[in-house]
Amino acid sequence: MITLGINYSQMHDSSAGLVRDGELVFAVAEERISRAKHDARFPQNAIRACLDFAGVKVEQLDEVCFGWPVPGETFRHDLKCYASGKMPANYLNGLNSTLHFVSMWHQRGGAKRFAQIFGETNARMRFVEHHLAHAISAYSYSGFADAAVVVMDGRGAFEATSIWHGRDGKLEHVLTIPFPDSVGYFYSEFTEYLGFQRNSDEWKVMGLAPYGKAGVDVSAFIDSDAAPYRVHARKLVANGAPFAEMVKLLGPRRVAESEIEERHKDVAFAVQDACEAAMMSVVKMAVEKTKTRNVCLAGGVALNSKANGKILASGAIEKIFVQPAASDDGVALGAALAPYLDSGGRLPMREMRHAYLGPEFDDAAIESALKTYKLKYSRLSDVAAAAAELLSKGKILGWFQGRMEFGPRALGSRSILADPRDPEMNAKVNNAVKFREWWRPFAPSMKKESAAEYLESAGDSPFMILTAQVRAEKRAVIPSVTHVDGSARPQTVEKEINPLYWRLIDEFGKRTGVPVIMNTSFNLRGEAIVHTPTDAIRTFFSSGMDALVIGSFVVEK
Ligand SMILES: [Fe+2]
Repeated sequence: MITLGINYSQMHDSSAGLVRDGELVFAVAEERISRAKHDARFPQNAIRACLDFAGVKVEQLDEVCFGWPVPGETFRHDLKCYASGKMPANYLNGLNSTLHFVSMWHQRGGAKRFAQIFGETNARMRFVEHHLAHAISAYSYSGFADAAVVVMDGRGAFEATSIWHGRDGKLEHVLTIPFPDSVGYFYSEFTEYLGFQRNSDEWKVMGLAPYGKAGVDVSAFIDSDAAPYRVHARKLVANGAPFAEMVKLLGPRRVAESEIEERHKDVAFAVQDACEAAMMSVVKMAVEKTKTRNVCLAGGVALNSKANGKILASGAIEKIFVQPAASDDGVALGAALAPYLDSGGRLPMREMRHAYLGPEFDDAAIESALKTYKLKYSRLSDVAAAAAELLSKGKILGWFQGRMEFGPRALGSRSILADPRDPEMNAKVNNAVKFREWWRPFAPSMKKESAAEYLESAGDSPFMILTAQVRAEKRAVIPSVTHVDGSARPQTVEKEINPLYWRLIDEFGKRTGVPVIMNTSFNLRGEAIVHTPTDAIRTFFSSGMDALVIGSFVVEK
């Protein structure tokens, strides 16, 4: 059976993934190909890339599975929220809901668009409940036979939080908390209040939080002590005046790009703290109801790596698997497996050990791009050793190798790398390349076998989606990847999974005594991570990177 999973909601992060006989073959987000960050348009480029990579023709597809239900469901739920007073029934809200519904209905949820672009197909068009698609994407790829599955996001058609029990390849629904009682919605509203972009910049709030202190009261907006939590949506969207209640209680909104004041840091602290408490509370409830201590997480809220790390370190659970594409891009992976649950069937249950699921470019394609730009380059006999040598001399590298990662993190395929021992490196990379906010931490990649030496917890962390505390005696050794609160968001790299990247870290360790490198995504601020060699070359020359190690080649400035 060949199934194509699609995320398309016109909200954010359109994507596609292809599964053949239960094996996830390929996945890519539309933004990487279109270059429009969080692209919410129909993912036609992503779908084409799936078919091309797998060598599959549209006629061969058995199922095309969307990670959203048929269009009416979202609209019906919106109307219910307006009628019950849970959301303000004003002109703008009504208009937005109606326009979204009409547009999605007109496209038959994407099925009509699919036929228009790719031609008629005999494949069954399937519409999967959004949280079920998230839940499958967490459980089926976790490697746990028995697991408590928690989905938390901004919203599905009607869901905000759901709990499932995964057992022997099946998913049993335990409970759903409907939108707008949504932790993701709460976090996004505050992201915007703090002058950032919702559904995109929540990382910035998470990174800012440890600079703040306790004291700001957000209990008017979220009750984290309720079982498991309660979001007061009416306060978040006061009728007709966005952010009115926040402004009244917490002061004026921050203007985008303006100075960060102490009170902004304190608000970020309170928002993050409330989010962590709510997530912990939902996870505890899931463990209690399912009687298992293996936990799977998905949904945009599960990108909160700080909260994930605390949940693992709390001792309330045994093991954790967070779907690395926890946001809506990941529902393509879950939706593509939904057919396996038909007629009492079981999910394939293949543990996801890496996220290298995207396109790749061979040396011939890379060299052709280098020649097009008439660049001076040389071929390396040992790519890992040469890159490690450059890093040990303090150079900032672009690193472009193998298949592109799926999900928001660069994990050693499309990365910018630097020496984590230099306390100034954070500022250097920021000034030269990323041009991003001073408070956002950079993350370390380390050999899996060195993790215990550097970290207090999170032994296995292949996806940079869990934070861990850096051992006190190591904080001064890797200062540029240790956050102000002593935490880091590590990637543990296994030799069998990514031999080239592992060897680069190993070679860096041989030269410096520290088998850890600084790894950030290969993109400029506000842009999607690079996809093609051309994207990499352009980004390299638009920034202060010193060298680009791309396939078997190196380009130096
Ligand atoms: Fe979602």
